[in-house]
Amino acid sequence: MVREWDPLTASSAEIASLLDTLNAVLAADLPQDPPWRASSLREYLSEVMPGERRISWVAEGDPTADGTPGPMLGHVNVLLLGGMGVLEVLVRPELRRTGLGRELVRVAARRVWDEGFQSIGVEVVGDTPAVAFYEALGFTREYVETRSVLDLGTVEWPALAEMATEVGAGYHVEFCPGGPPDDLIEAYARAKAEVRDVDDGELRPSSYDPQRLRESLDTLHRRGMKPYIVLALHEQTGEVAGLTEVVVPAQHPTRADQYDTIVVRDHRGYGIDRAIKARMLLELRSAEPELAEVQTWNAQANEAMLKVNAELGYRPDRDWCEYSVDVAELVHRLDNQR
Ligand SMILES: CC(C)(COP(=O)(O)OP(=O)(O)OC[C@H]1O[C@@H](n2cnc3c(N)ncnc32)[C@H](O)[C@@H]1OP(=O)(O)O)[C@@H](O)C(=O)NCCC(=O)NCCS
Repeated sequence: MVREWDPLTASSAEIASLLDTLNAVLAADLPQDPPWRASSLREYLSEVMPGERRISWVAEGDPTADGTPGPMLGHVNVLLLGGMGVLEVLVRPELRRTGLGRELVRVAARRVWDEGFQSIGVEVVGDTPAVAFYEALGFTREYVETRSVLDLGTVEWPALAEMATEVGAGYHVEFCPGGPPDDLIEAYARAKAEVRDVDDGELRPSSYDPQRLRESLDTLHRRGMKPYIVLALHEQTGEVAGLTEVVVPAQHPTRADQYDTIVVRDHRGYGIDRAIKARMLLELRSAEPELAEVQTWNAQANEAMLKVNAELGYRPDRDWCEYSVDVAELVHRLDNQR
């Protein structure tokens, strides 16, 4: 049975069951990734940016004779933002190829259609069954990035400490745990707005105006995701010349996510990219003693960024693809396949 499900009011047993499903999926599809923890999982699933909505459903086995709900078999949620729905689907590995994934997508797609949205997008991890699944459902590949992972155990810390200082004269590098200080929010947003194409995390949410940026930081905190920022400030103008953002999620605090790294055009060629990323790793080492790895996503074409990441010790892991489909076509296709 598939039913709509609200993580905010769900019982602790249901949240635990979702966690178990997620970790079974990770163990099957991404065995090198750390399992998730229950910390702030409810908030992770329920908190969204202002103006966005996430709708979730679960598939459960039959209830027992005494009315205890059956075990969770699968989960789907769709985040409604802009004109599109962003989909996430999980089916327990032992239950795959029985049509459950298709049924979960059908239920979510029908709602996205009813709500008047045009398209559905999904992140698909390369070399997993999800590729064949979404292609069978008519999704097309829009964009591919490479995920790379840095094992902090392999980092040569003295060399990194050196790198962190190798920034051109006239720049000041600053570590900002929690987010940029309030008096720098405007300059920070300007830097992000100027360089939309050179960022590390095309698939991650980005915010380009001060209000949106504040909301985005606030949402991260509410979801149990701790942002860390290193800024390069241009001393003469006070402008943010470069920034790098890492988020440590309470759900998997041993592996952090590298979000945007930006060096504003006029300030390129002064070693800022390398220096701010090196400084970030040095700071994280003491701020997050549990942290063992950092993962990042790059467009294949972004050679400069890939070169710096390779120097820091990041190793390419796998493709990370963005797929999309027209909602009307998807609903039609899935209704016909029932
Ligand atoms: C992708 C996923 C949802 C598919 O669920 P499922 O219940 O196995 O899918 P279905 O049984 O509904 O499959 C529908 C169709 O997709 C295609 N398909 C699904 N899995 C496939 C596979 N492993 N190989 C080839 N085709 C596949 C087939 O055409 C299938 O139809 P068929 O079985 O009649 O041939 C499931 O594998 C899953 O949960 N993956 C994890 C996804 C994820 O988000 N992971 C994130 C962390 S890795």
